[in-house]
Amino acid sequence: MPFIGTFVPPGDKSISHRLILMSLLAQGQILIKGLSNCQDVQSSLDIYRTLGGVTELEADGLRLRGLGGQWPPGQDLMLQCGNSGTTIRLLMGILAGRPGSYVLDGDEQLRRRPMERVADPLRRMGAEVKTVNGKPPVTIKGGELKSIDYTCVAASAQLKSAVLLATLSAKGPSAVTEPCLTRDHTERLINFWGGSISHSGLKISLSPGILKMTNTFECPGDPSSAAFFLSAAAFNEGSSVTAENILMSQLRTGFLRVLDRMGAKVSLSLSSDTPEPAGGVKIEYDGPLMATEITSEETPSLIDEIPILALAATQAVGRTIFRQVDELRIKETDRLASISSQLTAMGAKIVVEGDDLIVDGPTVLKAPNQLDSSGDHRLAMTLAIALKTAKAETKILGDKSIPISYPEFNSHLAQLWRD
Ligand code: S3P
Repeated sequence: MPFIGTFVPPGDKSISHRLILMSLLAQGQILIKGLSNCQDVQSSLDIYRTLGGVTELEADGLRLRGLGGQWPPGQDLMLQCGNSGTTIRLLMGILAGRPGSYVLDGDEQLRRRPMERVADPLRRMGAEVKTVNGKPPVTIKGGELKSIDYTCVAASAQLKSAVLLATLSAKGPSAVTEPCLTRDHTERLINFWGGSISHSGLKISLSPGILKMTNTFECPGDPSSAAFFLSAAAFNEGSSVTAENILMSQLRTGFLRVLDRMGAKVSLSLSSDTPEPAGGVKIEYDGPLMATEITSEETPSLIDEIPILALAATQAVGRTIFRQVDELRIKETDRLASISSQLTAMGAKIVVEGDDLIVDGPTVLKAPNQLDSSGDHRLAMTLAIALKTAKAETKILGDKSIPISYPEFNSHLAQLWRD
């Protein structure tokens, strides 16, 4: 049974977080069109308001006023980051160089995620940062920050962004070197708002300064949300799905390149290039998919799409290998364990060997009595697509987590799935 039709996914979550959180450091005001309405972004918005940010809902978007780094310093002020890793890690970078003391906490899943990787460079710059066994709650006391020439311990855009955002409030320039390229929305927005990022290979350099917001920003749709239905079209016979106005950054659309080389028919139409590349993507079923190998260099460009790509791999002919995907162990859940256990329960041949995820296909999926997403939004959506592919209905435990990134998922599923 096919997936057919056109849909517009919510605004990009990564860009939405940055627009809101970086408004804390920037001057001016901005009308944001297409901001994501997901729960994670709501966590960033709540914190922006707690620190004194003012928002106005207008006919075509949300207006935010920049605080220019000036808000009354908190005294152990509690900031709730909910489920959002991007909120807590970027905020650590923002608060590191501002006066006041803050406690950054989150829900049960966030409390299991590592924060030392961010705390370490911020401490070296001069902030006082405490974690509880490396995890939230994070206590942070901002201070005068010095320069750092930092090499990231992981390919993580959140880590890179935290150091860059701290640099904006520091006493001198800093440099951050990545092991491989990761999403560059922070760098693009810094440049767009008047800062000057420079690149030399994998090294990014930045001088401190106050950013000045542009009058408007049109946030393109989230490719990580669009990925569920676009991928579904690649492995469900007779499908043709178009996502309109999505972010087309090369650093986010690795899943499209992978689906293309697995044999799906992928058509792109770029409609704008600034402030971020955006356009439409159509995927049509074009016969059975073929297995592929996903290298560790490719992983950051598809890190959040591995659950749905793993499902695609169960329908592909041959062995698909995701190389060195250990970062998945520290996402909302241990995604290596949760994807493999739940797809195995559906009859897939999927195993973790060392840090590789290996899928042998094609397999006919079936539905067990129940599935468990462990409250992981991306796993819940993957399982919902898997059940449609299996033409089966089963309760997915923890699917209330879906609005964390994609509140319209169930209505888009009903719209695009043809019985
Ligand atoms: C994000 C970066 C990625 C990604 C997350 C959003 C961002 O995490 O998985 O969903 O907005 O910077 P890491 O930077 O930890 O890889």
